[in-house]
Amino acid sequence: MADGMDRNAPIGVFDSGIGGLTVAREIMRQMPDENIVYFGDTARVPYGNKSKATILRFSRQIVSFLRTKQVKAIVIACNTASAHALEAIEKEQDIPVLGVIKAGAYTAARATANGRIGVIATRGTIDSGVYEQVLRDLNPGFQIFGKACPLFVPLVEEGLTHDFITEEIARRYVKDLQYKGIDTLILGCTHYPLLRTLLRKVMGEEVALVNPAYETAVELKALLTQKGLCHAPRMLSGAEEGLGAPASYRFYVSDLAAQFQEFANSILPYDVAGTEQIDIEEYGGSH
Ligand code: DGL
Repeated sequence: MADGMDRNAPIGVFDSGIGGLTVAREIMRQMPDENIVYFGDTARVPYGNKSKATILRFSRQIVSFLRTKQVKAIVIACNTASAHALEAIEKEQDIPVLGVIKAGAYTAARATANGRIGVIATRGTIDSGVYEQVLRDLNPGFQIFGKACPLFVPLVEEGLTHDFITEEIARRYVKDLQYKGIDTLILGCTHYPLLRTLLRKVMGEEVALVNPAYETAVELKALLTQKGLCHAPRMLSGAEEGLGAPASYRFYVSDLAAQFQEFANSILPYDVAGTEQIDIEEYGGSH
């Protein structure tokens, strides 16, 4: 780990676009003292149908950018980027780096009673086999059934989270998983927690829905606590910088800042005041 890391430094969170805000939202809820720098790669979204080499290059550039903001830890709040880039980036960085996949897999492993677990995600995540790998390492007896749901991301981004069209598509996507008798379903894409109500209706009450965003925030908190990197409590008076002030959240995107801001305001529990557009290609991604 980098020497002398400032525990009051921000946490860097990134995603291919807006979806990672579901993870940022959980971090804000569970760790209200923490400052966050969020980057959404809105110029190059979606990641879900791109190759591992491309996603790794993009992720390295974003990590280089976040490091210019002196972040103390990085959360890869995108399932596809976690699937393709976490392993490499973790090795290259001297600060804690966390993805969203392990948290989701561990929760599913605890939730399942019959060992039959479904995973819905982008094509990239499903084809990488990463959820399957982590779950099998936990218990080789698990039976895992993956299903790519490429239409969900655009439907969510169009605001059709409660629409009958989305429900019809969801029924088609999960039909096979229902035949397999799964009792647990991992929502393995940043956008899917926003379809939770609809998926609950389609899957029924007896299937546990796992939201990796929630669990990632739990894991992050444990990791920062263990490393002594949690932000100083803001309620106490003291000399440390940042005490007493509310947490700061900064948002950066690679394209269409206004559109991002609109979506952010629809899902975050407070108003996003300013989103800055940057040229992510300027960041070399060297490590
Ligand atoms: N953030 C992506 C994920 O969680 C979904 C959107 C995309 O395909 O870029 O996999």
